[in-house]
Amino acid sequence: MKVLVTGGAGFIGSHVAEYYAKNGNDVTVLDNLSRSKLLGKDINSTYNLDFLKNSFPNIGFIDADIRDFEKIKEAAKDADVIIHTAAQTAVTTSVTDPRTDFEINGIGTFNVLEAARLSGNNPTIVYCSTNKVYGENVNNVGVEEKETKYVFEDKFKNGIPESFSIDRCEHTPYGCSKLTGDIYVQDYGHLYGLRTGVFRMSCQFGTRQFGVEDQGWVAWFTIATILGKPLTIYGDGKQVRDVLYSDDLVRAYDLFIKSNIKQGLFNTGGGPENTLSLLELLDLLQKLTGKKSEISFSDWRPSDQKVYISDTSKIREALGWKPEISPEEGVKRLVNWVEKNKSLF
Ligand SMILES: NC(=O)c1ccc[n+]([C@@H]2O[C@H](COP(=O)([O-])OP(=O)(O)OC[C@H]3O[C@@H](n4cnc5c(N)ncnc54)[C@H](O)[C@@H]3O)[C@@H](O)[C@H]2O)c1
Repeated sequence: MKVLVTGGAGFIGSHVAEYYAKNGNDVTVLDNLSRSKLLGKDINSTYNLDFLKNSFPNIGFIDADIRDFEKIKEAAKDADVIIHTAAQTAVTTSVTDPRTDFEINGIGTFNVLEAARLSGNNPTIVYCSTNKVYGENVNNVGVEEKETKYVFEDKFKNGIPESFSIDRCEHTPYGCSKLTGDIYVQDYGHLYGLRTGVFRMSCQFGTRQFGVEDQGWVAWFTIATILGKPLTIYGDGKQVRDVLYSDDLVRAYDLFIKSNIKQGLFNTGGGPENTLSLLELLDLLQKLTGKKSEISFSDWRPSDQKVYISDTSKIREALGWKPEISPEEGVKRLVNWVEKNKSLF
């Protein structure tokens, strides 16, 4: 099978590329290596790519931008599967530079879809959507404050389902541009018959994740704790996410790709059994590393959700999938990776 992974030098993309290469497929990674530049942070942008290139002869690389339609068209021409992970990923950057955010997430995704449609190959498309498509509506769900975290009111104890409203609320430019892609992917499924899997993902984490303050908080807290860097908590630290380890996510994509489902739309995360608040992660990190960063508190970020937990009933039933790696186990693996690679950060 020929697999094209946009954003394959990123965190999720590199795990996808590794998985399909290990299983003997022809994998092409397409990336413009912009993560560090986009986020304005001095972080390693070729580590993941070097790892893939050095480990798998069946991974090719195309240095291209998804805003460049001709390059995407060429890259997609014989793909059986396109896993579209490339994106501008930070809410904060989307607020300060909404045009770039839209051009990458909106038009870039449109380019990927058009390339798929025009290839005549009928490829399966996997799209990395986000819980941010539900925007501020999530904050209309009642929450109860506990000692270390907020919890959803009883009516939403299973989490947020796919039928939750996306309308009449603030989303941030990132939420809007990702939702644009999400709806376009669904429509290319309905209108042009492509197989499409839209995964509305909450907090994903794992090794090879270069988390920074603006994006990838589990990795960022882990890196900061191990390196003794100070940490700022925006809000009170009781905000909660359902967290999912990268291997579990890639398994979900693969189950969809191998299924006979034509159009999938799945809220994808650890679900109610696998949650962490910021304060709980800090405790866990202290337990695992014996270290604690200096912590300061600042105002809530725009449209931050106090609690986001995915209702995973639909994906569990449709794909026979469930998370297998607990938050504790996942964070332990991430800690080991950061400990071994301190010089990268
Ligand atoms: N990590 C999460 O918790 C999470 C949660 C919800 C959704 N998502 C979505 O998952 C996807 C992957 O996220 P990630 O955490 O792996 O991010 P990442 O930043 O590690 O990876 C994204 C990759 O895309 C590349 N890229 C960015 N703009 C590009 C462009 N214009 N052309 C080509 N390549 C470009 C970057 O260089 C990077 O390698 C994104 O679509 C993101 O919106 C992630």
